[in-house]
Amino acid sequence: MASKFSAGLALFFLLASVAVLIAVAIVQVHKRSYESPGLRYGIVLDAGSSRTTVYLYQWPAEKENNTGVVNQTLRCLVDGPGISSFGQDAIQDQKTWNSMADCINRTKQAVPLDLQSSTPIFLGATAGMRLLRIQNETASDEILRSMEKYLRSLPFNFQNASIISGEEEGLYGWITANYLMGNFLERNLWNAWVRPHGAQTVGSLDLGGASTQIAFTAPLDEGIGTEGYTRVRLYGYEYNVYTHSFLCYGKNEAEKRVLAALAQSSSSTTVENPCFPVGFNTSMPAANIFGSPCTQQPPSYDPGQQLHLVGTGDPAGCRAIVQSIFDLASCHGRANCSFAGVYQPDISGDFMAYAGFYYTAAALKLGSSFTLEAFNSTAWAFCSTNWTSLKENYAIREIYLKSYCYSANYVYTLLVEGYKFTADTWNNIQFKKEVKKNSIAWSLGYMLTLSNMIPAEAKLLRLPMDNSVFAGLLFMFSALAILSLMFLIISLVRSCY
Ligand SMILES: *[C@@H]1O[C@H](CO)[C@@H](O)[C@H](O)[C@H]1NC(C)=O
Ligand SMILES: *[C@@H]1O[C@H](CO)[C@@H](O)[C@H](O)[C@H]1NC(C)=O
Ligand SMILES: *[C@@H]1O[C@H](CO)[C@@H](O)[C@H](O)[C@H]1NC(C)=O
Ligand SMILES: *[C@@H]1O[C@H](CO)[C@@H](O)[C@H](O)[C@H]1NC(C)=O
Ligand SMILES: *[C@@H]1O[C@H](CO)[C@@H](O)[C@H](O)[C@H]1NC(C)=O
Repeated sequence: MASKFSAGLALFFLLASVAVLIAVAIVQVHKRSYESPGLRYGIVLDAGSSRTTVYLYQWPAEKENNTGVVNQTLRCLVDGPGISSFGQDAIQDQKTWNSMADCINRTKQAVPLDLQSSTPIFLGATAGMRLLRIQNETASDEILRSMEKYLRSLPFNFQNASIISGEEEGLYGWITANYLMGNFLERNLWNAWVRPHGAQTVGSLDLGGASTQIAFTAPLDEGIGTEGYTRVRLYGYEYNVYTHSFLCYGKNEAEKRVLAALAQSSSSTTVENPCFPVGFNTSMPAANIFGSPCTQQPPSYDPGQQLHLVGTGDPAGCRAIVQSIFDLASCHGRANCSFAGVYQPDISGDFMAYAGFYYTAAALKLGSSFTLEAFNSTAWAFCSTNWTSLKENYAIREIYLKSYCYSANYVYTLLVEGYKFTADTWNNIQFKKEVKKNSIAWSLGYMLTLSNMIPAEAKLLRLPMDNSVFAGLLFMFSALAILSLMFLIISLVRSCY
C-alpha cells in the first residue's frame, strides 16, 4: 500500500518535472527568437600622426550595454601620412583622400543599407594634430572642418570629429584593453553579470608616432585631487586611473629628436648615426628633422640643406644618444617622478604594451613576454648586425627595418629609465597588438564611452525577465527531479520487502 503510494508520488513528480522541462525548452526557444534581432555598428577613424585607420565595430543590439560583446569587423589602413600633413602637398593630399574613400567604401559595403543612417561615425585625432594645433591652429581647425564636412556627407550618423587630449587617449586605451580582456564583468553560473572574482585591471602602454601614453589603476584613496588621476565608474564599480601622455615622445617624433641631437653635435653635414646599421647611409633635407615642433632648430637653419646620415651600428652609442633626449634630470632624486618632471605613482600590476611597443618586440622576433635581459641582449645583437644581413634575415620593409635598432633602444629607455620598470616588474608586461582579433587601440574605448555603451551602474544589467524565469524553472526542475528520484527509490526499497 505504502509502496504504491510512493510509486504514485514518484510518477507525479516525474510527470511534473517533465512538464517543467518542456516549459524550460519553450522559454529557451522563445529566448533565442528574442535574442536574434539585428546587429548594430559603429565606426571610428583614428586620425594618428603617421596615418589614419578606419575601424568598424559590430555588436548584438539588445546586448549593447554588456561587456565584451563588441567585435572589430573591419580595420582599414589609409595610405600615406596622417591628416595633420594635409595642405603641404596637393598630390599627396589627393592620394590620401582616395585611399580614405576606399576604406570608407569598404566600410559602407560591410554595413547593411537600412542600418547605415543609424550607424554612428566618430573621428578622433591624436598627437599629430595636437602638434599642428600648437604650430598653426588655423591649419588644424581647417583640417578638422574639412574632415567633418566629408564625414557628414556620408550615409552614416555623424557624431564628432575633434582632437582628443593625451589623457583621454590614455584612458580610452586602458578601457579598450580591459574591456577586451573581460576584466570589467563576466557571466556567473546563473547567467548574471558580476565582477570577475579577484579581477585585476591591466595597465596600458601605448606608443604612437608622436606621443606615448601610460595608464594604470591606483588604490581608490590615492591621489585625490592630484593631477594625473581620473576616477571612472564602470558597471557599478569605481576605478582610480593614473594616466599621462608625453607629447613628442612618440616613436617617430623621438627619432627626429635623436637625429637632431646627432646633427647638432656634428661639425659637418655628414652625421654618424649609431642607431642605423653599418652599411646603411641615407640623405635627407634638414627640414625632415628640424621642421618638427618637437625639435629645436639650430641657429643657422636651412630647411633645404641635405644631411648625410651614415650608419655605424653601435648599440652602446645608440643607447646613449637615445637616453640624451629624455629629460631625466628634472626627476633626479625625486620619488614618484617618471621623467620631464612628471608625477607618477609606483608601477603596479600587469601591463599590456601595444602599438609601437608591440611592433618593436615583434621586429626583434620576441614573443609577447620575455625578460628585460633577453630584450637588451636581442636589441644589442640587432644593432650590431650589418644592413646586408638585416635585409636577409628580417622580412620587414626597409623604411622600417633601418629604425628598429633605434626603436628597441627607445622602448628600453622609456620603460626602464622613464617609467621605472625593473627586471622584476618587466615580467608583468605583455607585448600584444590584439585580443581575440580586436586591435588594442584607444578607438574602441572611445566609441564605447561616447555612445554610452559602458553604463556607470550595473543595474542596467539585471537579468532580463526570461533569464530569471529560466533560472527559476531550472531550479524547479532540479527539485522535482530529485523528489521523484527519492520517492522512486523509497517505493523500490519498500516493494522489496
Ligand atoms: C544602454 O544604456 C543606455 C543608457 O546608459 C540606454 O539609453 C540604452 O537604452 C541601453 N541599451 C540597451 C539595449 O539596454
Ligand atoms: C567631441 O569630442 C571631444 C573630444 O573627446 C569632446 O571634448 C567634445 O565634447 C565632443 N563633442 C560632442 C558634441 O560630443
Ligand atoms: C657610408 O658612408 C661611409 C662614410 O662616408 C662610407 O665609408 C661607406 O662606404 C658608406 N657605405 C655605403 C653602403 O654607402
Ligand atoms: C610614491 O607613491 C606610492 C603610491 O604609488 C606611495 O605609496 C609612496 O608613499 C610614494 N612615495 C613617496 C616618497 O611619496
Ligand atoms: C645589454 O646587453 C649588452 C650585451 O649583452 C651588455 O653589454 C650590456 O651591459 C647590457 N646592458 C644592460 C643595461 O643590461
